[in-house]
Amino acid sequence: MPLPVVENDVALAPLTSFKLGGWARFYTKVETEAALVEALRWARDNGVRTTVLGGGTNVVVLDDGFDGLVVHIALRGIRVGAQGELTVQAGVPWEEVVDEAVALGWAGIECLTGIPGSAGATPIQNVGAYGQQVSDVITGVRVLRTDSLTFEELSPEACRFTYRDSRFKQDPGRCVVCAVDFRLLPDGAPTRTYPEVARAVPETASLDDVRSAVRSLRQRKSMLLDPRDPNHRSAGSFFLNPIVPVAEAERLIGRALSEELVTSESEVPRYDTEDERVKLAAGWLIEQAGFTKGWRHGPVGLSTKHALALVHHGGGTAAELLALADAIQTRVEERFGIRLEREPRLIG
Ligand code: EPU
Repeated sequence: MPLPVVENDVALAPLTSFKLGGWARFYTKVETEAALVEALRWARDNGVRTTVLGGGTNVVVLDDGFDGLVVHIALRGIRVGAQGELTVQAGVPWEEVVDEAVALGWAGIECLTGIPGSAGATPIQNVGAYGQQVSDVITGVRVLRTDSLTFEELSPEACRFTYRDSRFKQDPGRCVVCAVDFRLLPDGAPTRTYPEVARAVPETASLDDVRSAVRSLRQRKSMLLDPRDPNHRSAGSFFLNPIVPVAEAERLIGRALSEELVTSESEVPRYDTEDERVKLAAGWLIEQAGFTKGWRHGPVGLSTKHALALVHHGGGTAAELLALADAIQTRVEERFGIRLEREPRLIG
């Protein structure tokens, strides 16, 4: 087996959407499964710890960097099967998958357009937006187990998907996602369940119309990570939307009414979930706690378009970004008794 090409001291900031943080002691980019195995074996043989980097759009690299091997996943290729089946290698940019599906006329991920990052990251945080989530269309995930360095095909049940969560996130480092199998719906109708999408396009809308409408919505919220957008150095939503028992949501609504934050119950954004709990909008809680859109502290702040996205304006540090995140968590908790959970993964 060839030795992997390992570089020393590589800056990680340019490989992430936040554009901050330190260096990797060792770095390798893997384009084949064999190279991935070799990289992990090299790390094991040399007693070096590893972390995996995909599109870099949902991570914060700490300022001290990573004192180990960063394995950058660049496995490419989409295989189009029959009956709506797509097998996608982990390093394929996610938008290429959406493009392929819409071009084929296959429904199921048209609302997941404009999400930065790679296809391999989608099962990890069960990517979802505008009424769709990848767990609804994933039929299998091919992983490399980091202990045995063997490949395994996981069923969707084995992935333990819930809202923005999976076994990969709960149990980080145990396996590396190499490829994902999707089953989409040939000639299926686009999803218009999210109210903003339903308002934007008619019932007769095509997959392409829905995808365009979602892209415009995301653009208006600065959620496209377009380098021309002043809010682009971000990881999209920085916190998860909290899911709470019904009684807690009612307590929050009571408080919002009594403190005259709202004039009617319907003004508090909330979504019922399948297990009789309620999903609250973290962006709303953040704003009500006093951090409004565009709030800024030196080189870090909140997006001018969406309070849930933390933004780095350049020249800042991961410590400053995390201090802001901390301040928001503390303030929201003091104000509403709800602890927000961070979405991006920390590297370092
Ligand atoms: N809201 C505010 N202030 C804000 C932002 C939102 O009050 O600054 C309120 C809105 O008025 C609305 C509610 O919060 O009533 C929900 O807002 P939005 O529709 O923008 O969605 P979200 O819940 O904030 C989630 C996902 C997004 C996804 C959208 C659309 C999470 C953590 N985020 O955001 O995902 O695009 O729904 O489906 O679940 C991402 O994960 O990076 C991401 C962008």
